[in-house]
Amino acid sequence: MRRSVITATGSYLPERIVTNAELAEKVDTSDEWIVARSGIKQRHIAADGELTSDLATKAAQAAMDSAGLTADDIDLVLLATATPDETFPATAATVQKNLGITRGFAFDLQAVCTGFIYALATADNFIKAGQVTRALVIGAETFSRIIDWEDRTTCVLFADGAGAIVLEVSEQEGTNQDRGVLTSHLHADGRHHDLLYVDGGPSSTQTTGYLRMAGREVFKHAVNNLASVVGEALEATGLEPHDIDWLIPHQANKRIIDSTGRKLKMDPAKVVVTVDIHGNTSAASVPLALDVAVRDGRVKKGDVLLLEAMGGGFTWGSALVRY
Ligand code: UT7
Repeated sequence: MRRSVITATGSYLPERIVTNAELAEKVDTSDEWIVARSGIKQRHIAADGELTSDLATKAAQAAMDSAGLTADDIDLVLLATATPDETFPATAATVQKNLGITRGFAFDLQAVCTGFIYALATADNFIKAGQVTRALVIGAETFSRIIDWEDRTTCVLFADGAGAIVLEVSEQEGTNQDRGVLTSHLHADGRHHDLLYVDGGPSSTQTTGYLRMAGREVFKHAVNNLASVVGEALEATGLEPHDIDWLIPHQANKRIIDSTGRKLKMDPAKVVVTVDIHGNTSAASVPLALDVAVRDGRVKKGDVLLLEAMGGGFTWGSALVRY
């Protein structure tokens, strides 16, 4: 059967690092509070004029370089983002142009923090359907642009960055020993809009707006939804928690990550954590964490990866992938 194999990864973080101490000079917070409640110690923030498309282009170029590919090899650019450069055209089209790709198609996908899981599942389906051979699947965000920097409950959490993968067709046996995306599970429940949203947009206010979050409520939903969606992935494949080599979770909060790891009885050493150094980069967080673990040699060819995320919408999802 046609499977979608991750053949390369790449990522990019803006140069500027903002520490908790720096934020404590601007809002009523402390390094102790931020570390204890979220696990975040620092985050990267884009420079003035540095756009989501710039971050996405650099991450995608790194993935293409790693795979030894050129522009003509790519037939889909799929960018998960909640912080596009403009309302339209899709930021994916700008990334396509920046990379010198003139064939195939490009579009943005909006599922906030679950964006990369949605994008992975979408690209996987295009590949399985025979419509795409090789895709760039990217998560990129400049959340610093939609943060209310006077709101201490959110400004200490979110950050900027980009991660990308090359997803490529491969003929496999059709068993869970195959390489590639083995299963994916997506969910949304629009009734929880008011717990996590941006209070602006082209149709409603004609402004960009700022992120608003009822953190404690989102936390409870995240813990429950993630536990159930990782369970679905295991059930669909017949794999057991001990078959997972690496849990690569959305990096929103170390306590949420720990909770999912505990439910799966995972050795904490098998959980990839970057929230401490990246903060919550929304759709970029999972591919960023994946790229870190690939480049430092933890994730190896043949390893089983469990990816999961939860975010605004609410949206949530998981994917089991043999790398
Ligand atoms: O990626 C999309 C999905 N998003 C998430 O998964 C985020 C989910 N939520 C969370 O990660 C956590 O709820 C937070 C990190 C946002 C907050 O942690 P918490 O343990 O749920 O704290 P809390 O919201 O219940 O606030 C506890 C206290 C409050 O004071 P009172 O009401 O107890 O007096 C807050 O006002 O901490 C206060 N507080 C702060 N104090 C210092 C809130 N933000 C800050 C801050 N510094 N930055």
